[in-house]
Amino acid sequence: MRKKIVAGNWKMNKFLTEGIQLTVDILVELERNPPKHTVILCPPFIHLSELSKVLKECSFIKIGAQNCYYKDSGAFTGEVSVPMLASLGIDYVITGHSERRQLFFETDEIIAQKVKAILAHGLKPIFCCGEPLDVREKNEHLNYVSNQVQKSLFNLSQQEIKSVVIAYEPIWAIGTGVNASPEQAQEMHLFIRNLLKEKFGNESADLTTILYGGSVKSENAATLFSKPDVDGGLIGGASLQASEFMKIVRSLPN
Ligand code: PGA
Repeated sequence: MRKKIVAGNWKMNKFLTEGIQLTVDILVELERNPPKHTVILCPPFIHLSELSKVLKECSFIKIGAQNCYYKDSGAFTGEVSVPMLASLGIDYVITGHSERRQLFFETDEIIAQKVKAILAHGLKPIFCCGEPLDVREKNEHLNYVSNQVQKSLFNLSQQEIKSVVIAYEPIWAIGTGVNASPEQAQEMHLFIRNLLKEKFGNESADLTTILYGGSVKSENAATLFSKPDVDGGLIGGASLQASEFMKIVRSLPN
């Protein structure tokens, strides 16, 4: 059985005290009725150390970083390495997010190196892919995403791919309020799983968690999560408020 996940990507939001409060609110609520699936919180870097203390005893909430660099150490001003994240007990790292690709010019090759580094240190990448609107309108979205997946993941071994979480996030759906329909999400998730099957075999593909991201809210989460190849969600805006995020977490069938 593959893992089901709801992950919150806080992006560049929340001061440290607010982030701790949000985490405590989520923790208190989940402790009352622990979920069967995994919940991941991905705060800004400066929150990671404090959150790892707050969540030390908690088995069902994991912590993810939003980025990393692929070198272990050295003269890379402003960057944070995977061993540094590992030393705090961080479990996941988002990589390939469209905001990093578009605003910070990260290429498929850079993302491939980050995926490798994350895996090499025993953490799990949340690898994001997804097409812009003009590509979708030209009906070239499957090719586009296939290219992203091949360029950043196809150099992995059968063993390594099992630790990768994929997040399909169409760019036109991120932060826009317009989510992909459950059918559009299912089409792409199944397509990605079939790509993985061809390259890595059925077992690895069946074990890979594929999340949907892009304007997931409490109102649309249940229908998106009801699709057979949608294994949960990567949630941006709606993860910034405990009650809304909790509704989304509770929408994921166990
Ligand atoms: P959104 O962001 O939920 O605010 O659309 C999702 C993401 O970028 O991960």
